[in-house]
Amino acid sequence: MNIVAGELSDRQFRKVSDIIYRECGIVLKSGKEALVRARLVKRLRALKMGDFSEYMKYLQGEQKRDELGLLVDVMTTNKTSFFREMAHFDFLGETILPKLTAGRLRFWSAACSSGEEPYSLAMFLLDRMRGLGSRDVKILATDISPTILEKARNATYEEGVLQGLPAAFLRKYFVKVGNVNPPTYQVSSDVKKMVRIARLNLLHPWPMKGSFNLIFCRNVMIYFDKRTQQGLINRFWEILEPGGYLFVGHSEGMSGIKHKFRYVQPATYVK
Ligand SMILES: C[S@@+](CC[C@H](N)C(=O)[O-])C[C@H]1O[C@@H](n2cnc3c(N)ncnc32)[C@H](O)[C@@H]1O
Repeated sequence: MNIVAGELSDRQFRKVSDIIYRECGIVLKSGKEALVRARLVKRLRALKMGDFSEYMKYLQGEQKRDELGLLVDVMTTNKTSFFREMAHFDFLGETILPKLTAGRLRFWSAACSSGEEPYSLAMFLLDRMRGLGSRDVKILATDISPTILEKARNATYEEGVLQGLPAAFLRKYFVKVGNVNPPTYQVSSDVKKMVRIARLNLLHPWPMKGSFNLIFCRNVMIYFDKRTQQGLINRFWEILEPGGYLFVGHSEGMSGIKHKFRYVQPATYVK
């Protein structure tokens, strides 16, 4: 079907922005109309709908709950990469790992997108952590988007995505998939088994029982307003072990947020 979605009116834009803010905290201000329109068209296409008003009505119908999830799914920005913001991994290797001597360690990648962040962490730990085999070390990887989590679970990446990954890591921690073009690699089972993937909306209650030694919450708070950021930072404080670390994205920082963390270096905080 050829979709001619027409214009997205200001009213429709505001309605969608309000829904997205309420559902997942992402702020879509004026200026984002073209982006929202392009992403909404994906839903119209999937539903074989011809225009935005039809979709807006559909959003209020009985299938509302399911559709809201799918709408949030298309509105998220999932950009990520292996060993993104390498300074965090350098700091982890040089300063944090020597102090992490406990037998049980828990890490959380709190907006893991398609898995590059938690798998980078798992590879890094396998490579650098002494006695890993005899310790209980797990990484929880969560995100709101079911589509992106499916990719994380598949853990299969085309060659282009793996650029920037140390060559030795590619050899050690990936398995080449058949004879496909472009060349494609799957994360090895040793790496995968350290990572537990689950859907979690950061705004909702967190079901995890124990506390964490290190949380990566990078490049997601940038989409939230100060109020949401403040609430999250307080909750990260609560769920971290004393001496636990919080990594945020380098473009995020915590200015304007009240917190009890000690600043360590850019985008790195300790409880
Ligand atoms: C830009 S990616 C960041 C990925 C990774 N942390 C990194 O730095 O490369 C942001 C991710 O946050 C997720 N996200 C957005 N709102 C969320 C929410 N309320 N709860 C959980 N995840 C959310 C999106 O689905 C997306 O995958």
